[in-house]
Amino acid sequence: MIRSVVQGCGAYLPERIVTNEELAKKVETSDEWIRQRTGIRQRHIAADGEFTSHLALKASERALSHAGLKVADLDLIVLATATPDETFPATATKVQSALGMTRGAAFDVQAVCAGFVYSMAVADSMLKNGLASTALVIGAETFSRILDWSDRGTCVLFGDGAGAVVLKAETGAGHSADRGILANALHSDGREHDILYVDGGPSSTRTTGLLRMEGKEVFKHAVVNMAAVVGEVLEKAGLTPKDIDWLVPHQANKRIIDGTGRKLGLSPDQVVVTVDKHANTSAASIPLAIDTAAKDGRIKKGDLVLLEGIGGGLAWGASLVRW
Ligand code: ACO
Repeated sequence: MIRSVVQGCGAYLPERIVTNEELAKKVETSDEWIRQRTGIRQRHIAADGEFTSHLALKASERALSHAGLKVADLDLIVLATATPDETFPATATKVQSALGMTRGAAFDVQAVCAGFVYSMAVADSMLKNGLASTALVIGAETFSRILDWSDRGTCVLFGDGAGAVVLKAETGAGHSADRGILANALHSDGREHDILYVDGGPSSTRTTGLLRMEGKEVFKHAVVNMAAVVGEVLEKAGLTPKDIDWLVPHQANKRIIDGTGRKLGLSPDQVVVTVDKHANTSAASIPLAIDTAAKDGRIKKGDLVLLEGIGGGLAWGASLVRW
């Protein structure tokens, strides 16, 4: 049996930090409102001329180094993003070229904040089917470029960043057979388009457009769908919430994260929270949180880690990984 086993991870946040106080000088908001409603304290914003591919490249180099692997080992890049450098080609191919990788396949996955779990599932399927042997799975975004900076209801919630993991197809009996991605579950419901979307695109308006969201509606769906999908992925793997060591959720809102942790009966210190430091970085948020918890020694080899996320589409999903 082939398993997609995590070899290493990496992350990158742009240098410039924008605090809640700084935002409160531009729109009518306050540090208190933002922290109480979301848990966010600050976000990182990409510099002029710093694109999604640049953030992705830095996270990827760190992930490869952490994995102890070389670019020549890679034969697949799956990059989750809703903010590509260009309409085409895929931003993944820019990362491929910048890394100096000349073989295999590189493409983007568009599932907004669920993009990282979608990409893990896509890479896992390809490794299991023998289409590739070593994959770089990246989540990278520059959401600052699609925000309406005059809309206090959305501009305070998002930030820029990137994270990546390296997956390797491993076969074998014994200990290594227990590790890797154990199960994935993916869903979408296009009927909910209007509660979270960007009001532009190459085929409709020929503009990039700006993010529009009915926050309260998204919140309601997030709580219900996250509880269902984590139950589903655990059932697929024949495990229960008691088996989970770490929950690494999409970092959008501390209240949604706490709700999911509570429903699973986890103690708060089993839930990895980084939303305070970088706000909602969409597809980048899960690998950013993974990187934090793996590098500070919380997530260790053999731990059972549950990843889950929801975003525009609506699209949502979960991955259960034995580290
Ligand atoms: N500062 C101060 N007041 C504000 C702000 C702000 N930044 N934004 C909105 N308000 C005001 C509103 O105007 C409203 O005022 P009113 O009562 O006078 O009309 C009041 O605060 C309450 O607004 P609500 O939108 O009802 O506030 P709510 O408690 O729902 O919190 C929030 C809003 C934080 C957006 C919440 O709904 C949320 O987190 N939703 C989920 C968003 C999310 O997780 N998205 C993830 C997916 S993102 C993706 O896929 C790209």
